[in-house]
Amino acid sequence: MFDTSSFITESIADLKSSIDDTAIIACSGGVDSTVAAVIANNAVGDKLHCVYVDTGLMRKNETQEIQKMLGELGLNLTTVFAEERYLEALKDVTEPEHKRKVIGELFIRIFEEEQSKVGAKYLVQGTIAPDWIESGGGVRDTIKSHHNVGGLPDDMTLEIVEPLRDLYKDEVRDLARALEIKVADRQPFPGPGLAVRCLGPLTLERVHVVREACAIVEEELELAASEGKMDLPWQYFAALLPVRSVGVHGDVRAYGETVVVRAVTSLDGMSAKYSEIPHDVLAKISTRITNTVKGAVNRVVYDITHKPPGTIEWE
Ligand code: XMP
Repeated sequence: MFDTSSFITESIADLKSSIDDTAIIACSGGVDSTVAAVIANNAVGDKLHCVYVDTGLMRKNETQEIQKMLGELGLNLTTVFAEERYLEALKDVTEPEHKRKVIGELFIRIFEEEQSKVGAKYLVQGTIAPDWIESGGGVRDTIKSHHNVGGLPDDMTLEIVEPLRDLYKDEVRDLARALEIKVADRQPFPGPGLAVRCLGPLTLERVHVVREACAIVEEELELAASEGKMDLPWQYFAALLPVRSVGVHGDVRAYGETVVVRAVTSLDGMSAKYSEIPHDVLAKISTRITNTVKGAVNRVVYDITHKPPGTIEWE
């Protein structure tokens, strides 16, 4: 059994002794970075500057919700709006590993800019064990270069501090509960955000489509779970595939793309089973998606692949 209170006490003591100067932390609003920020804030207080980067690749209304939540936790927060920079950097990038590297690198560059503003020496990160294991840590093969790991350039000037690097997701969620962080039961969201759910070219329009589709999947599955029709999956979202098919809207021919709905049960994200979703719920999701983004999406499919062999995200 993971002992949250001794982990918190020990990591606060560790951070107190290892952080002797100004530190900066990347807050994404996810469980991992929020827990790392609250622990670091407890350890070093006003030496810690929290930076939230709005990459333009966040879920619907996420930036406002995150700003509110982090503000309420008493963190010293700066928001950097960087949507245009991300879209520009990702223009013409479609290969998943390349995408992750570009995103990781820009993320670090932005932090370096913020670092020079506050004179930070340390970068605290919410990296957890699956991030570095799947990024080729130890003897394992590189499956995906996780954001926070694979994107680090060689010439980086900040010293990295990773208080959660030996923990798994369920342990971080336990910590969040122990620290009374509201984020505790949020589903995981990948560091590179909607970029890894938007296969093919990343444009403002396509990111908008996948953002709307993800919001619909979240709303409908949360509703179905609250009505007792199914258990809420561990993670559930939509991805946009650059696969076009012929459809018809009214009596007009359409040639739109495909949305895939993904919902899985898992303990820690290392392995997963696809979730069984009642057909009426899937049908409602499909109708809502095709009605909301008329013309852009013609077809909605459900992913019935376990991990392994599939990963949870499509990229
Ligand atoms: P995969 O797709 O590798 O995902 O089966 C396992 C879990 O990790 C999340 N994920 C990420 N989380 N940075 C993160 O912080 C990333 O680059 C990243 N890629 C995937 C994914 O959403 C799932 O919960």
